[in-house]
Amino acid sequence: MDDQTELRLSTPSDLTEIEHLYSEAFPDEDLFPLVRELVNGDYPVHSFVAVRQNRIVGHVAFTLCQVAPGEAEVALLAPLCAAPDSHAQGIGSALVRQGFVCMKGLGIGQVMVLGDPNYYSRFDFAPDDKIEPPYQLPDGWKDAWQSVQLRSDKPRLSGKLIVPEPWDSKALWVS
Ligand SMILES: CC(C)(COP(=O)(O)OP(=O)(O)OC[C@H]1O[C@@H](n2cnc3c(N)ncnc32)[C@H](O)[C@@H]1OP(=O)(O)O)[C@@H](O)C(=O)NCCC(=O)NCCS
Repeated sequence: MDDQTELRLSTPSDLTEIEHLYSEAFPDEDLFPLVRELVNGDYPVHSFVAVRQNRIVGHVAFTLCQVAPGEAEVALLAPLCAAPDSHAQGIGSALVRQGFVCMKGLGIGQVMVLGDPNYYSRFDFAPDDKIEPPYQLPDGWKDAWQSVQLRSDKPRLSGKLIVPEPWDSKALWVS
């Protein structure tokens, strides 16, 4: 990522620009209602934007979730996007790594993601069969449910992922 691009926590006043970013990055899917709830609501969400020349060119959210039983926390990485005219410039990677630093600092040992292993494997994500997603995933998506261990002093968790309300919708997990 170039030194003209800055990463920072998002604020509610970024939402109009974030909405535009999502409509460009996901033309066939409306993820903005989820993002608005994550950013605006009173949830344990850490949301970052990448800003270049006063324009938001990337966004990622990390949501803290519980793993039952035991109530240990992991983070769920999603959604993630970069503006189409700024792809392959390291923005997505920088946002993921910024989130990792933040999660480590909060004592979070593990991050989950549901996404393309061809992309997420670069961050050492690997298929996870110990933490169960909140809804049963479609056949063939097994390898898309992945985790990465961020801290060696934290145990690898197992159990069902309990997500905060914005994520508690079957449609988000099966489409
Ligand atoms: C996926 C996405 C966030 C990557 O952002 P980015 O800023 O372009 O990513 P980076 O610059 O850090 O990395 C670019 C690399 O990722 C690769 N890449 C991007 N999407 C990929 C995918 N789905 N599968 C495999 N590789 C992928 C690029 O080919 C490039 O490879 P290279 O490093 O070998 O050249 C961006 O393409 C995007 O917003 N896509 C649409 C939304 C989306 O699919 N989000 C992820 C699911 S929530």
